[in-house]
Amino acid sequence: MANITLTTLNKIKQNKEKFATLTAYDATFAHVVSTAGVEVILVGDSLGMVLQGNDSTLPATIEDMCYHTTCVAKGNQGSLIIADLPFMTFDTPANALKNAAKLMRAGAQVVKFEGGRWLCETVQQLSRNGIPSCVHLGLTPQSVNVFGGYKVQGREEQAAQTMLEDAKALEQAGASLFVLECVPSPLAQAITESVSVPVIGIGAGAATDSQVLVLHDMLGISPGKSPRFVKNFMAEADSIQAAIENYVAAVKSRTFPAAEHEFKA
Ligand code: KIV
Ligand code: NA
Repeated sequence: MANITLTTLNKIKQNKEKFATLTAYDATFAHVVSTAGVEVILVGDSLGMVLQGNDSTLPATIEDMCYHTTCVAKGNQGSLIIADLPFMTFDTPANALKNAAKLMRAGAQVVKFEGGRWLCETVQQLSRNGIPSCVHLGLTPQSVNVFGGYKVQGREEQAAQTMLEDAKALEQAGASLFVLECVPSPLAQAITESVSVPVIGIGAGAATDSQVLVLHDMLGISPGKSPRFVKNFMAEADSIQAAIENYVAAVKSRTFPAAEHEFKA
C-alpha cells in the first residue's frame, strides 16, 4: 500500500468511496492492521481502558500516548497515524501545541482531540505550526463524568444543531478530519454532507466516510458486554489478519455498519 496521506483520504471522500480506520497500540498490531489494508491507524486514548485496565480513558497520559505512538510508527506499513491528545493536555491552545508536538515527534501524522467550537483557536494554532487536527465530536469519552455515562449524543434538536454548527466552524478553523462517536445516523449523515473534509464514524451509522472500531472490540476479546455498534469480525475468520481484511472489505462495500449497529434518531 502506498503511503496514505490526508490527500488520499480527501480523494476517497470526493469519489464517494469509504476508507477503513482501526485502533492499534503496538508495533505488531500496527503491522497487521496496515498490511490488511486499513488506511488510518488511531492510537486512541482507549488504551487507558483496553491496555491499562482502567474504567475510563482519563488516566492515560501524554507519556503513555507518545510511547504507544512510537511503537505503532515502527510497525506501520504506510497507513496514516492519528494519535489522541489525552485528558487535560489541550486545555489551552498553548498546551495543545506543546503536547501535539510530542505526539508528532513520536510518529503521529494527525492529532485528535475531543470537544466543540471552543477548540477553533487550538485548530488554528496547530495548523499554523504544521499539525493537522482531527476533532472528535458526539460522545467524547473524556467527558463521561459530565455526561453521566456513555450515552448517545445529539438526540435533541438543539444539541444536533449545535454539533452541526460546531463541525462547520471547526472546518473553517482548519480541521482536517472529524470523528463522530455515538450520534444518531441522520445527524452523522448531515454533518458528513456539510463538511468537505472526511468524517470517521463509530456508532454513527453508514453514511460517514470511514468507520473506526477499537481493535480489541472487533476481535471479540474485550471483556464484558459490547456496545451496540461493535461487530466481532473474528466470529467468521480463522486469523486476526483475515478478520481485519474482512472488516476493511465490509467498510468499503458498506455492509458494515448494518442497521443493528446504528442509533436511529
Ligand atoms: O480512543 C479511541 O479509541 C477513540 C475511538 C473510539 C474513536 O477515540
Ligand atoms: Na479516544
